Amino acid sequence: MPNSATDDQTVSPDPNAPNSGPLETESRMIRIFDTTLRDGEQSPGASMNLAEKLEVAQALADLGVDIIEAGFPIASPGDFEAVKQIAQTVRGSTICGLARCSDKDIDAAWEAVKYAPSARIHVFLATSAIHREFKLRMSTDEIVERAVAGVRRAASYCDDVEFSPEDGCRTEHDFLCRVVEAAIDAGATTINVPDTVGYTTPNEIFERFSMLRQRVPNIDKAVLSTHCHNDLGMAVANSLAAVAAGAGQIECTINGIGERAGNAGLEEVVMAMKTRRDFFRCDTRIVTKRLVPTSRLVSKTTGIHVQRNKAIVGRNAFAHESGIHQDGMLKERSTYEIMSPEDVGFAKTDLVLGKHSGRAALADRAKTLGFTLTSEQLQAVFEQFKILADKKKEIYDGDIIALVQHQISDNMKQEWSLVDYEVTSGTNREPMVRLTLKNGDEEHTEQVEQGDGPIDAAFWAVEKITGISLICKDFSVRSATLGRDAIGEVNLEVEHKGRSYRGVGVSTDSVESTILAMLNAINRIIGEPKKQ
Ligand code: KIV
Ligand code: ZN
Repeated sequence: MPNSATDDQTVSPDPNAPNSGPLETESRMIRIFDTTLRDGEQSPGASMNLAEKLEVAQALADLGVDIIEAGFPIASPGDFEAVKQIAQTVRGSTICGLARCSDKDIDAAWEAVKYAPSARIHVFLATSAIHREFKLRMSTDEIVERAVAGVRRAASYCDDVEFSPEDGCRTEHDFLCRVVEAAIDAGATTINVPDTVGYTTPNEIFERFSMLRQRVPNIDKAVLSTHCHNDLGMAVANSLAAVAAGAGQIECTINGIGERAGNAGLEEVVMAMKTRRDFFRCDTRIVTKRLVPTSRLVSKTTGIHVQRNKAIVGRNAFAHESGIHQDGMLKERSTYEIMSPEDVGFAKTDLVLGKHSGRAALADRAKTLGFTLTSEQLQAVFEQFKILADKKKEIYDGDIIALVQHQISDNMKQEWSLVDYEVTSGTNREPMVRLTLKNGDEEHTEQVEQGDGPIDAAFWAVEKITGISLICKDFSVRSATLGRDAIGEVNLEVEHKGRSYRGVGVSTDSVESTILAMLNAINRIIGEPKKQ
């Protein structure tokens, strides 16, 4: 049994201890620590460019997140620059940088976050027997020594220091207590006990956090924090169980993205505590009406779609299909609805716009859907809206969301753009694509007759004109709304020189969406700073 960590006695929670969760009558504030830009960005294919990270960080601050983990500054110059610029510009949240317990890491984290009015350094070191033996090859004494040195160095730079014993939920109780106590003595103000591999269960984490609160003598000098991965689908339940046992901070991500199966979803932990306030007796600073817009922004920026039935922010989260449910809803909403869709940021009605709708109506609808556009963005979206309205009589919220998101996430230089294309294909015949692209003022045209279908032929044509070769790793097309005239959104993941890039394209014509998605990926490749 490689994972056994319950070698010491377990302790049941003391109902009279301060902040012991559901047994209390007073409510307490839970800090929301968002790690979308760090752990979330570690999701395969989710990497974001600098402009996108800044946009997401601002959205997290607007959402009311207490602490934004903006990145891992030592990881790359690009990561460093992103954390630094977020610290320089985003206000209203503490900005945190991650570091291993090494001088270089901690110095880089401080150099990046020091510009923020409220900055935090988060140092981590693995503590479980498996990690000590096979990864670090260090003894328990060496681990304690390294953790203390790391926390001390971080504390020499700033007052707000978080320490994470990595794989803490599989660490022997006695040793975990020892490391935690030493880290707090060295200056840690938050102790985060991560379930790094998503292995624990609600009862087990409840006992672990209760045990720490009872056995670590200086535990009251730090905020206890939970950071759960979702490998067994229990990240949200485990986070809430840790809160019930006295944790005062939850680490989570928008849409639950993160390493492997992801982290606890921010929207889920927040709405669980809000909807079941009677049980948890906890509050957060989160502006819940911003949950859906923030979820859409992160989904767009990372290219990771939110499944339809995802709790809180999924498209079907408030859709009632069965006749019995609809009947109940019409008589009394609370029969089948425990939260209101407006409370999490879904717009009240799916208003229909059309070709006679003006710029003001479009801006108003976009605002209701959670997007505040600059006049330039509005102009660009309006132009696309008019083109779409010529093709499609009724324009729904889903169409507008697709157009707006495409526009606002497309804030990089457009080196290559589409002028026009023509395609012929059919059963038992080679496809033909004739494509014209623009680069600056110059137009380039190529005709190719190769590939196993029009999409493959479009790839060949784009590669031929731009001179950039791409390996297609993932391709998906989905409709933004219902109906056969709906906008088709193509999401691409391509590889170029060993690196992964995303591309998104929207159009009512799926070959055109594919070409636009390819150009989007190519513009990312060209626009990427060399040092990254
Ligand atoms: O999952 C984990 O253990 C982490 C740490 C760096 C906190 O992400
Ligand atoms: Zn993690």
